[in-house]
Amino acid sequence: MKKILFVASESVPFIKTGGLADVVGSLPKYFDKEKYDVRVMLPKYMCMKEEWKEKLTYKTHFYMDLNWREQYVGILELVHEGITFWFIDNEYYFNGFTPYGDTKWDIEKFAFFSKASLSALPLLDFRPDIIHCHDWQTGLVPVYLDNFRYGNEFFRGIKTVMTIHNLKFQGVWDTKTVKDITGLPAYYFAPDKLEAYKDANLLKGGIVYADRVTTVSSSYAEEIKQPFYGERLDGLMNARSNCLSGIVNGLDYNEWNPATDPMIEHHYDASNFRKEKVKNKLALQEALGLNQDKKVMMIGIVSRLTDQKGFDLIAYVMDDLCQDAVQIVALGTGEERYENMFRHFAWKYQGKVSANIYYSEPISHKIYAACDAFLMPSLFEPCGLSQLMSLRYGTVPIVRETGGLKDTVEPYNEFEKKGTGFSFANYNVHEMLAVIRYAEKIYYDKRRDWNKIVEQGMSRDFSWKNSAKQYVDLYESL
Ligand code: ADP
Ligand code: GLC
Repeated sequence: MKKILFVASESVPFIKTGGLADVVGSLPKYFDKEKYDVRVMLPKYMCMKEEWKEKLTYKTHFYMDLNWREQYVGILELVHEGITFWFIDNEYYFNGFTPYGDTKWDIEKFAFFSKASLSALPLLDFRPDIIHCHDWQTGLVPVYLDNFRYGNEFFRGIKTVMTIHNLKFQGVWDTKTVKDITGLPAYYFAPDKLEAYKDANLLKGGIVYADRVTTVSSSYAEEIKQPFYGERLDGLMNARSNCLSGIVNGLDYNEWNPATDPMIEHHYDASNFRKEKVKNKLALQEALGLNQDKKVMMIGIVSRLTDQKGFDLIAYVMDDLCQDAVQIVALGTGEERYENMFRHFAWKYQGKVSANIYYSEPISHKIYAACDAFLMPSLFEPCGLSQLMSLRYGTVPIVRETGGLKDTVEPYNEFEKKGTGFSFANYNVHEMLAVIRYAEKIYYDKRRDWNKIVEQGMSRDFSWKNSAKQYVDLYESL
């Protein structure tokens, strides 16, 4: 039996700000329980939903030093759907209204979390063969592990995997401060270790010290070796390219299933979507105050409203797009200018545009189920889960060919009648608008072809089955 520990800053169903939570909360379920004992370490945020906080049970506690600070570390436990989740409790660090906020404070918070996650293991009597770390928040885990090994036999021989879900976020602050926060010896703050461009970089520490580095799609694994996507670490990604691979994310096909989803009103599958799916469109139009029209092409957007997701392109063409026979339904929060942009167009084109500037799990499911197409013109996209949810719900993705979007959406080929979506290559407003209009044309004029695209998308398998197998191969290679 191999023991694996996931360490991450978010996980469904407990706390989620993006796709990272979907991955951390679902992947552990898809390993063979006879062969792998996979557990998950998370922070116990005050902002976690009450219904979950109530269910946690106390395991143990201890005091740990973080340089000159002495901090309480509580460990709580919850077994959920067969997986053991441990929660690190410390009200001083995890009392925010959101998991992340001020960068410097986040660095101290997750330095504490990383060190506490390792320090707790002997007390929990769990010695993992492999620790699987996710994103910059856990970048210090392989570094502390390296440091712990010298003094403590328990930690010798534990291997680490560092998965990069988004290279843009690295956890960077000046070296002096990070030295003071972490209490790590000066030795670690050199250009071949934690230091990058004179500052200390937590993700870099993880990438340097992990035994293997992965990203969440093959294309992104290649892209980040180039300056445009490399976020100033492309040199390092090239240097580590022997240990770097891309494994595309899967989706929890039990949670995301239009035939059983309790959050949608009308269930359907690949055999009856032609008649049934549209009922969800009518229901959503009614719920959001859009014009009732089952024929109009409804385009959905569910996203963090940030530059990464291509909202400057969308902002630029909204007026043009709204001249067409389409409805646009957006759900998201993030940068104020994009929140206001959607509010503005919802006011300008009432009945046609719906701006939902909040976070809602149920509405997101309803949008995936109701829409005809899903727009995701990302500037970069390590994997992207929204397009996978769309494919599963028979909602045709319109995407830019980057990262995971390129790997999971097969562009429609009019002549062979093949494909699962529409895509364009360059980050360019006109290219995007042209491909959206091309999709409109197929939707209105070649309805059979459109339905074929839907059908092909719904029949693709983006469950965890294949990708979990690739993680198994990776674990076994260590
Ligand atoms: P990222 O992790 O970069 O945000 P992904 O496509 O991997 O992008 O994952 C985004 C996840 O967050 C999806 O599950 C999507 O449905 C969800 N999501 C984003 N914004 C919202 C929102 N406002 N309400 C509900 N779910 C949202
Ligand atoms: C990040 C990426 C997204 C990816 C998710 C889960 O948030 O932006 O593309 O799907 O992590 O891996």
